[in-house]
Amino acid sequence: MLDQSRSRYGDTYARWKADPAAFWGDAARDIDWTSPPGTVFDGSLGVYGRWFPDAVGNTCFNAVDRHVASGRGSQTALIYDSPVTNSQRRLTYAELLEEVRILGAILTDMGVEKGDRVVIYMPMVPEAVVAMLACARIGAVHSVVFGGFAANELAVRIDDARPKVVLAASCGIEPNRVVPYKPLLDLAITIAAHKPTGCLVLQRPQLAGTLVEGRDHDWAERRAAFADAGRGADCVPVKATDPLYVLYTSGTTGKPKGVMRDTGGHMVALRWSMENLYGLKPGEVFWCASDIGWVVGHSYIVYGPLILGCTSVIYEGKPVGTPDPGAFWRMIEEHKVVALFTAPTALRAIKKEDPEATHLKGRDLSQFRTLFLAGERADPDTILWAEQHLKVPVVDHWWQTETGWAIAANPVGLGLLPIKPGSPTVAMPGYDVQVVDESAKPVPAGTMGSIVVKLPLPPGCLPTLWQQDERFREAYLDEFPGFYKTSDAGFLDEDGYIFVMGRTDDIINVAGHRLSTGGMEEVLASHPDVAECAVIGVKDALKGEVPCGFVVLKAGERRAPNIIEKELVNLVRDRIGPVAAFKLAFTVNRLPKTRSGKILRGTMKKIADAESWSAPATIDDPVALDEIAEVLKERGFG
Ligand code: COA
Ligand code: AMP
Repeated sequence: MLDQSRSRYGDTYARWKADPAAFWGDAARDIDWTSPPGTVFDGSLGVYGRWFPDAVGNTCFNAVDRHVASGRGSQTALIYDSPVTNSQRRLTYAELLEEVRILGAILTDMGVEKGDRVVIYMPMVPEAVVAMLACARIGAVHSVVFGGFAANELAVRIDDARPKVVLAASCGIEPNRVVPYKPLLDLAITIAAHKPTGCLVLQRPQLAGTLVEGRDHDWAERRAAFADAGRGADCVPVKATDPLYVLYTSGTTGKPKGVMRDTGGHMVALRWSMENLYGLKPGEVFWCASDIGWVVGHSYIVYGPLILGCTSVIYEGKPVGTPDPGAFWRMIEEHKVVALFTAPTALRAIKKEDPEATHLKGRDLSQFRTLFLAGERADPDTILWAEQHLKVPVVDHWWQTETGWAIAANPVGLGLLPIKPGSPTVAMPGYDVQVVDESAKPVPAGTMGSIVVKLPLPPGCLPTLWQQDERFREAYLDEFPGFYKTSDAGFLDEDGYIFVMGRTDDIINVAGHRLSTGGMEEVLASHPDVAECAVIGVKDALKGEVPCGFVVLKAGERRAPNIIEKELVNLVRDRIGPVAAFKLAFTVNRLPKTRSGKILRGTMKKIADAESWSAPATIDDPVALDEIAEVLKERGFG
């Protein structure tokens, strides 16, 4: 057994398990409620129960107003550092309050009321954070769409969320190009059946967008007018069970799932995690180098750090190339960051360009305490490299868009547990994590199986999918009755450490971004020359995985396969977006299938990843797999 005696984790987890209601009731005292919870959990409500059903409060109040009221007004709330525009900006809590008050009033003036949805399509600028908080302030439900998605994906989300208003920026800035967001927004609104009544557009100097008469408003002009008139919105109290946001994430089809986050449980869980998991104190600087378009950005760029009263960093840049692989170390030194949260892929990118970490030389990182990794499996090599050079604990932790915060982690605030590279450590309080076989029976330690969480899920996790209770049940609850299915496979070791090895569905993880291969197959299949197709994730030294498409072309007269392959790459980029990183399309004569017609994606993946493979007994024609191996070999894979 490992020595865990120096951590309060064991006692804390046991305290939760003995009385979950008392545990979360205690945690809820760190939140300022309009009306505090009488009931902590009611299992009869919603799909599997609801947290704090009778409480009332406001997330923006907890993230902003209360800090100003308690004397933190002059503390920096947000540090914006943008190497791609060569600019920096700081907002104190008092300034942030002023901005969210003004934007809240603008939104109200545009007709947004409590419960209305607002889509946010913006890059990493402070206004994006202000936008999220302003929605929370007036009880509107935000839905942030990542800038790397194409117009079609934005349209799908607009149709599902049915926003009254869209908040957008004119452009995003990637190191190699300016990405015009406004034309993408216009196209998305044209494609979507639902039409928002108004758009507020932040015109960036790098590329302004054309405003549509009668629908679009200039953000800066409106802001100035409302500020001059002294107009601001107060916090609207909402029920703890009311939605704070909907965030779309990849499902097994092209139709993304709208993960719904509630108000009360979310505040309680994030506040608890900031202190006990991340080990932060109010006033300290926390940097999550993700994007507000992902759940990690929602929880740990915006809500978590601000609810605790930390200074949060908004970074508009990359780990490498903006301008060099020392960018992260500069940021940590310059902004006195105590904890950084990033994806392993970012470290792999740095390690690739600067294997000896020469860019660390001369940097004073004395206040830096912990590096947190999530978003994909953290490979032991990367963890050890970071530990060796940064000389701080490197903490892997595992979570999903659905859960909103870590299922498994090494709780720094409770006292660090021994680290086992390759494991995100142990279940957090709130999560009874089990590894089961197909009949939902727990498997012995060390045996691979499906990772499930006993219901109810803790505060902060999704209570349901946006207006789709039935899809929520089908996707997560039906297969293992009484449990939430994570769709991750792995094992528990004899110390209770969790090892997460991969997905059990067709989701792949590309540079820490979650993507559906099913969604990509839908796009490939829509090409007029494609008869059938399969997309798999193949190993990639930098991004972890990249998608790889195999297509069988229709018989008869047609253009050369290499031209069609290029069209397919462009089609995925146009329909899903550059974030899909779809660059490999291979024409094959046929796809390997079982006798019942199931495509052997798993075996194809093994071939591509140069792992040992054998043709399954149920295969229709074993030669089909050899053909795949040959095509992959010709292109340098396998
Ligand atoms: N708006 C528009 N386009 C975007 C975008 C955005 N917000 N974010 C990424 N893209 C584009 C990129 O420019 C790239 O386009 P390209 O094909 O023309 O080069 C494409 O989407 C793929 O982006 P990405 O997968 O991020 O690759 P990259 O080569 O630009 O960078 C890394 C590689 C590893 C440096 C980068 O992926 C990274 O920093 N990853 C960390 C991921 C992360 O923080 N995930 C959140 C979970 S914690
Ligand atoms: P997302 O919803 O985008 O956060 O992606 C969630 C998925 O990413 C999980 O279901 C896992 O497959 C994977 N993932 C996230 N963090 C980790 C981790 N620390 N270790 C292994 N896989 C991870």
